[in-house]
Amino acid sequence: MSLADLVLALADNKQLLGLRYAEWAIRAPSLEADIAAAAMGLDELGHSRVLYGCLDPVGADPRGPDREADPGTYRNLPYFDRPWTEWSQFVAANAVLDTAFTALVQACVEGNVDVLRSRLRKMLQEERYHFLHGRSWLREGSSSVDEASLAAAIEESCACPGGRLTVVKDGKPIDPALPQEIGLIQDSLKNCRGPLWVKGGITIEGADGKVYEKRNRVTLCRCGESTNMPFCDISHLACPHMHGKDE
Ligand code: FES
Repeated sequence: MSLADLVLALADNKQLLGLRYAEWAIRAPSLEADIAAAAMGLDELGHSRVLYGCLDPVGADPRGPDREADPGTYRNLPYFDRPWTEWSQFVAANAVLDTAFTALVQACVEGNVDVLRSRLRKMLQEERYHFLHGRSWLREGSSSVDEASLAAAIEESCACPGGRLTVVKDGKPIDPALPQEIGLIQDSLKNCRGPLWVKGGITIEGADGKVYEKRNRVTLCRCGESTNMPFCDISHLACPHMHGKDE
């Protein structure tokens, strides 16, 4: 993945995160939270514009001519593809994903690419507030999780093919029972072919003889572009040869 690819992925994710935040500007649990959702949405949309503006200076702009017509070319996480129905989803994005994006921005600011060092620095100040907001709601939620939010979180985590999202209750991870089988993942929203889906605790052994931890849910790269081989890291979203469906 080139630096321009990374910047584009960050810009796309922040654009979608901004839109999802903004959708809660009139339906958050309190007036203060309404205002915070609106403000953070505007921040994220502004950040995405700055990042798009950095694409040319950091290298060849990876956006193709079909960009506007094909949602599959957007490099956002699937978590942002649909509106969130629960406030807990907002909080999870605010406390976890937003913070992860900030870590990437910080790495850019501390890097040696001048345009990123200078243009992204201000984002870190704004993101400080996002972090505090997400953390305070996360603390509030963890002390009073209602059944509906817990059920929604379990459903969301069990639908994660790679098992990266897992709800832990009473010290035990909640994992769906899956048959032993291998399948192909198709992201219909993005019209993009995804990784191999290995389910049910099948042993994975690399070509070099390395045996990986046996897990209930694993996604293996089949686009050849993952930076975390043999596992999928959603780099396939940036691969033109993965767009479309399997024959
Ligand atoms: S299939 Fe997802 S990174 Fe290759």
